[in-house]
Amino acid sequence: MKRVLITSAIPSVNGVKHLGNLVGSMLPADVYARYLRNRGHEVLYICATDDHGTPAELGAIDAGMDVATYCDEQWRIQSDLAQRWALSFDHFGRSSSPQNEALTIRFYDAINEHGLFADRVTKQMYSATDGRFLPDRYVIGTCPHCAFDRARGDQCENCTRVLDPALLVDPRSAISGATDLEMRDTQHLHLQLDKLADRLRVWIQSQKDWPLLTTSIALKWLNEGLRERAITRDLKWGFAVPREGYEGKVFYVWFDAPIGYIGATVEWADADPSRNWRSWWYDSKDVTYVQFMGKDNVPFHTIMWPGMIMGTGEPWKQADYIKSYSWLTYEGGKFSTSQGRGIFMNDALDLLPADYWRWYLMSNAPESDDSDFTWEAFATDVNKGLGGTIGNFVNRTLKLSEANFGAAVPAGGVPGMIEEELAAELAQRIATYNMHCDNIELRKAAGELYLIWSAGNVYLTKREPWKSAKSEDPTVRAEAAMALRTAINLIRLFAILAEPFIPASSQTILAALGASEARHLDSECQWWPAERTDVDAALAAAPPGQAFEIPPVLFPRVEPEQVAAWKAHHRGGTVAT
Ligand code: MF3
Ligand code: ZN
Repeated sequence: MKRVLITSAIPSVNGVKHLGNLVGSMLPADVYARYLRNRGHEVLYICATDDHGTPAELGAIDAGMDVATYCDEQWRIQSDLAQRWALSFDHFGRSSSPQNEALTIRFYDAINEHGLFADRVTKQMYSATDGRFLPDRYVIGTCPHCAFDRARGDQCENCTRVLDPALLVDPRSAISGATDLEMRDTQHLHLQLDKLADRLRVWIQSQKDWPLLTTSIALKWLNEGLRERAITRDLKWGFAVPREGYEGKVFYVWFDAPIGYIGATVEWADADPSRNWRSWWYDSKDVTYVQFMGKDNVPFHTIMWPGMIMGTGEPWKQADYIKSYSWLTYEGGKFSTSQGRGIFMNDALDLLPADYWRWYLMSNAPESDDSDFTWEAFATDVNKGLGGTIGNFVNRTLKLSEANFGAAVPAGGVPGMIEEELAAELAQRIATYNMHCDNIELRKAAGELYLIWSAGNVYLTKREPWKSAKSEDPTVRAEAAMALRTAINLIRLFAILAEPFIPASSQTILAALGASEARHLDSECQWWPAERTDVDAALAAAPPGQAFEIPPVLFPRVEPEQVAAWKAHHRGGTVAT
């Protein structure tokens, strides 16, 4: 048994996340966490909201609320959505918690003692009207490249070029519209990453089994040469910096956000005296730590955050594995939060239950390359992959069985060659499935799960119990009973294997079978199949006579008219109403 710490990049607090965000961090982390728990490992899956920085401040301004209240509200919204998506966090915390503030100061002190901070004076846009410095995103103006008149200081949304506020034509404040802006000197604390570059390179290069996407991004940064990076900002919202000359300034969001993984674990531990956060984070050699994130977050998790840890000189847990994802695009373009383009976590659940989305997203996860969401592919995928396989198999088997032998596992008959072949095929496929899950190649795992489910329908076609059940000959009829009993056991096996991907449906199926596993899923699961003997046991698991219920159709078809309507409603730009 292993102890596995899992984190997914903590989502910015400013609003509901879209499906591209979800499939690049929280959802695969959840599938992996569920898989490991089912295999009996001790898992701690931690996430939180990223409460600081300009996204939070600007989100609050847009919503007309003070930042703290806005963050409280957004945390509740995201936390509620996480539950509805069945994201099995052990704790969903907040980067602005007092626990995280204490840790942030602790990190600051330790890095400071090791002489890795430098005070530097830089120039920054200042607005006299607003009485404050304006970070990049607070300055808007005309793009010098494409003449778009609402370009932000960090980037032009129209032509996507990276900008600098000083480059904008007719710059003005995003808060007040004031144009009396000037460049002023301001002092900021810089983390001297250049001094850590050699150690970071050794660390990255020793990670032989990491995904290429992760290491290539890290090495690109290292090869370009690491420079000092400012870790303070002229903002009001954030953690105060305990250093002379930094009054009225706060830590940069990317300083306290990753510390928030630990902060959220402390929140988790504070809720129950039997929990020990240090055993997961501090000098925790028995813990394997796996991180999940989109590729835009990789530089921070391979350079900045590990650099901060190294800078403390303390044995904080470094990632053992960093799983990163490319982009999911929406109908050939970008998902965009600011433009409301794509499908968001709340809207998706208004259309269909989470398991449809979880299945589609994971079987199309942008694991090695970008991948594109289209409504047509979505409908085809869920109809074929869920409705046509496990959904169909469950209902067909249980209905046939009930019609011919009553609503209990049928007795009689002896398994033969066909069952022997079935068990052999399943043992091989399950080994492949487990291997992909162990390697966190979850898209491949979903593909294998589909083949496992398909084997059930192939089996029924071979045995044709609907024919043999009608026979006058008791031996032939017993063969039908045996085939349906085997199929009912397959249902149970399929539902167990499916749990990481479609947890709610898995529970529904197991409950219909009266399987006691339904209650135990997620804990002490000694019965996850790995060897051929496990498959043999699984195929004979349900005792004859055990009652079952027929669940309602598990995955009603997604019809073309629905797809057309949803697509029109969610076309590009803002959601049409
Ligand atoms: N909030 C960031 C984003 O959405 C991710 C922060 S991850 C952490 O891109 F490491 F900082 F926690
Ligand atoms: Zn532009």
